Amino acid sequence: MEKRKDWMTNYLKDHNIALTGFMGAGKSTVAKTLSKIFGVKYIETDEMIVQKEGMTINEIFAKFGEPHFRNSETKILEELSETGGCVISCGGGTVMKDENVELLRKNGCIVLLTATPETILERVKDSDERPILKGHKDVDFIGALMKKRRESYENAADIIVPTDEKTIDEVCTDIVDALMDLEAGGDV
Ligand code: S3P
Repeated sequence: MEKRKDWMTNYLKDHNIALTGFMGAGKSTVAKTLSKIFGVKYIETDEMIVQKEGMTINEIFAKFGEPHFRNSETKILEELSETGGCVISCGGGTVMKDENVELLRKNGCIVLLTATPETILERVKDSDERPILKGHKDVDFIGALMKKRRESYENAADIIVPTDEKTIDEVCTDIVDALMDLEAGGDV
């Protein structure tokens, strides 16, 4: 991990790493772990929105609707595109908007975490914090929404890392290895 650590520390000096993917793909957990390993800031865009609006995501959706939430999301990304040194855990719908993808790319790279609908269901089944899954916590709904979003997720991604049956450490190692390979190819 030492060589990887040097490389990442250097990369993160003036770039961000943004984690994207479906709800329950592991973005928050992996972002927290990466930020700890590399001693950089961990940012959760959902949490920033909650702080700014002074209400939960469920309340924002119920009171103002999804478009309002999506506008807040873009405003946060505008702020983050001016900084480096952050591992950002994005909301599951963030990269559905091209403008958001451009903002994330401006100063960093986009990592897509994937998992099967079955794995996602297992990870989200006990949480009621996601308005989009309210009344839809089943493999069919998750699979259908994932299919609808897949192209946008994949088009936005600089690298794609599957997470099924992997430990958090394994996912983090895969991310760093893939980023180093990408850099070696001169694309990051
Ligand atoms: C959403 C995912 C959520 C949150 C909001 C909408 C989505 O974030 O941003 O509920 O559209 O997929 P997580 O992916 O962190 O659960």
